[in-house]
Amino acid sequence: MNETRPLILIVDDNATNIDLLVNTLRPEYRLGIAKKGATALEYAEKYHPDLILLDIMMPEMDGYEVCTRLKNTPLTEGIPVIFITAMSETVNKTKGFDLGAVDYITKPFHAAEVKARVQAHLAMALMKSELRSQNALLEQMVQKKTVEIQDMLQGIISSMALMVEIRDPYTAGHQQRVAQLACAIADRMGLPPERVEGLRIAALLHDVGKIRIPVSILNRTGKLLDAEMEIIKIHPQISFDILQNIPFPWPCTRMVVEHHERLDGRGYPHGLHGDEILLESKILSVADVAEAKSSFRPYRPAQGIEAALNELRQQRGTLYDSAAVDACLELFAGGRFRFELPQQEAVRHVPSLLSHPHEQIE
Ligand SMILES: [Fe+2]
Ligand SMILES: [Fe+2]
Repeated sequence: MNETRPLILIVDDNATNIDLLVNTLRPEYRLGIAKKGATALEYAEKYHPDLILLDIMMPEMDGYEVCTRLKNTPLTEGIPVIFITAMSETVNKTKGFDLGAVDYITKPFHAAEVKARVQAHLAMALMKSELRSQNALLEQMVQKKTVEIQDMLQGIISSMALMVEIRDPYTAGHQQRVAQLACAIADRMGLPPERVEGLRIAALLHDVGKIRIPVSILNRTGKLLDAEMEIIKIHPQISFDILQNIPFPWPCTRMVVEHHERLDGRGYPHGLHGDEILLESKILSVADVAEAKSSFRPYRPAQGIEAALNELRQQRGTLYDSAAVDACLELFAGGRFRFELPQQEAVRHVPSLLSHPHEQIE
């Protein structure tokens, strides 16, 4: 016997009806029989038939109740149900459809009609199941490709960050450290994960525009001349220009170009004020200042995180976004945050550390 034949459950309290259906369907299908609703439910859960022929008028539990329970049970909800009704029975046929049945057959049965309807609904169920499998397969493929693309994007971002840091070893790791802190601040402020991810990407690349700044200026010890400072100030715009053709799903280019803007309008390159600056850019500024101030620069020694946090405290609400500063202070309070990436070893070998307080070039 071919056990791959579809299994059909016949649910009817009338032996004559059962015999008629069995005789009609037996040659092509495996059959299960239940004379009561409760038995039908047990059978369906245990053997998961491919289709159920369900009589409406039955004692104890009628067909409507059986259908409702089948559709409310995850194991059986997908099994197509065909109601069986007698022409003389004054039943509401649309109620069966409302409960999730796919069709109905009227008594007395016509063998050809029963076969045709059963066959049609089995074919439809098979197609649905194949479609589900194909969808699941496609979803898997999409997920795999998404992971590949994300890995590639991550690799490209790391390479771009490295290109700048190779020229400017004193700030090596700066962008990664800023990204870590910016994400922690955003997270603490309650930004949704997808926005935090956009901020992470922007933070990892925010200083790529420094590639246009001569190494002699980047690595210069001592106070920068005004003209040199003006050159430094072009780097957010260059970062923007480098990244503008990448179709990020987040406003990353806006974040990088705004990372030196300040609430009072005295930032650069555009001198934006308050709400003209994107929230993520404001967070990036806070993380950038906290990291850069606490780290070594050729023109000054590392000032330590406390000095950096003091600067943020003092300029809270005037230069830096209050909520972002508060979140940053809370993170460092009690050692809740620590940079994962240590500062570059190279800084130890720089001979003369000057402590001229001048504008930051982070
Ligand atoms: Fe920076
Ligand atoms: Fe910068």
